[in-house]
Amino acid sequence: MTDTVILPQPGALAPAAIDATLDLEAEIARLRRERNAVILAHYYQDGEIQDLADFVGDSLDLSRKAAATDADVIVFCGVRFMGEVAKILSPGKTVLIPDADAGCSLEESCRAEAFRAFRAQHPDHIAVTYINCSAEVKALSDVIVTSSNAETIVRQLPADRPILFAPDRHLGAYIARKTGRDMTLWPGSCIIHEQFSEKELVKLKVRHPRARVAAHPECPDGILAHADHVGSTRGILDYVLASDATEFIIATEPHIIHQMAKAAPGKVFIPAPGADGGCNCANCPFMALNTMEKIYLALKNDAPRIEIPEELRQAALAPLTRMLEMSVSVPMSQGATSSGAVHAA
Ligand code: 13P
Repeated sequence: MTDTVILPQPGALAPAAIDATLDLEAEIARLRRERNAVILAHYYQDGEIQDLADFVGDSLDLSRKAAATDADVIVFCGVRFMGEVAKILSPGKTVLIPDADAGCSLEESCRAEAFRAFRAQHPDHIAVTYINCSAEVKALSDVIVTSSNAETIVRQLPADRPILFAPDRHLGAYIARKTGRDMTLWPGSCIIHEQFSEKELVKLKVRHPRARVAAHPECPDGILAHADHVGSTRGILDYVLASDATEFIIATEPHIIHQMAKAAPGKVFIPAPGADGGCNCANCPFMALNTMEKIYLALKNDAPRIEIPEELRQAALAPLTRMLEMSVSVPMSQGATSSGAVHAA
């Protein structure tokens, strides 16, 4: 099956040519109107991109938005696999990503040929695959999950069938513990969530005894063991807003704190520490590739644009559709909008 294509090829359009006096926000607003575009952003994006977006959400909510939008153009501010998901679900739309090089360490860890061999070694297993993977790997999977629906979906799978879970071994192990299901895990992990140090977290908790710890399930077990709440990015956001605690340690990519600080300015949010005790180690270098300049250029030049061969799209659509059907009980968030409002589901 042919791979996803990014048009034009990465690197073909450099942001160097932008006039420094251009009001980027106004230009993006004009192009968004002219092109009937919607800007979707993940919580790991820079605050200014989150504030510009029509919708900010976790992977599940963003997939649902991409599937439901009546815009002609989707500008997906996240990483490449998220743009691919939007194109798979909305093939009639133009899907633009600000930077074609915005990849994902989990996706990189799980190439289609190796995943095909993994499946072949376990022919009786159901392949449950985290959304952080390529369209090619999705096409080889039975059902896709995100961190907000993985438990709900795994609980619906036939109890007598063993499960293959790829590519995040920490999320897989967490779901296996929660559901008691027999799972064989692909040995992948997220470079960001691997950065957190259990020893430094314990030291931080001693200094902040009233702080609650909220962690993403991509974190290793040693971090999750100290968490008062484990959930997707949106789940973590909902948790800190609903909690009557006032101090939180956040064990996920720290740009999500932008929404927390806006919605609950009286609360204190402390990024979980890395091995050096510092807190910048968990910034995602792939998410950071997206900038206001590149969003403007994407809308102006109609590129980088995601195109997926129809045979591959159809094959990847089946397990994604199964995911959306099996997560109907997971409520949709209103998300955060450009007006800055955040609503718990
Ligand atoms: P969620 O936003 O679904 O929690 O996923 C986080 C993530 O891994 C983004 O790549």
